[in-house]
Amino acid sequence: MRGTRLMMIVCSLVAVASWSTVGWTAPEADPLKPRVPDAERGEARKLESPVKATPEVLAKGKELYEGKGTCANCHGLTGAGDGPGGMLLTPGPRNLMNCKFHKKRKDGELFWVVKNGSPGTGMPALVKGGMITEEEAWAIIAYERAFCKDNE
Ligand code: HEC
Repeated sequence: MRGTRLMMIVCSLVAVASWSTVGWTAPEADPLKPRVPDAERGEARKLESPVKATPEVLAKGKELYEGKGTCANCHGLTGAGDGPGGMLLTPGPRNLMNCKFHKKRKDGELFWVVKNGSPGTGMPALVKGGMITEEEAWAIIAYERAFCKDNE
């Protein structure tokens, strides 16, 4: 009798615990590990952005990030990686506020991922898929860099 009651308590705790994870975003995979495949990384790291982060470019990048580019759906409006579209994805979307991540990545590596996606994950190939142009991707990348607020 005691055992049965204990089992019921345990079961309801498990039920509550799994219910409360609905709506959670899965943790991101190691953000410091490179995403560009070895064979292409050298080239990618050398590729420089053709745009400067002027106020006009940043405004365009923000508009694209939140609109046509669909980035905010998964990465969230603040870049925290908590957009509604990312909730069912494992690994979760990158937290773009992480300054350590930005320091580790060259612009060309960010561009590679926005162009080709991150293979084996929910990060889509937005340029290859025709969602945005290369020029638009560069404006978004300039804006994305501004999510890191550490100006040291
Ligand atoms: C459908 C959801 C989704 C959309 C839309 C999306 N992302 Fe992602 N993004 C992800 C996920 C999931 C990851 C994590 C992939 C991984 O861990 O390799 C990711 C990773 C990234 C990364 C990290 C790459 C790296 O080198 O580690 C960048 C940068 C990024 N996304 C930028 C963008 C931009 C810019 C857009 C819009 C143009 C965008 N994402 C749209 C889901 C999304």
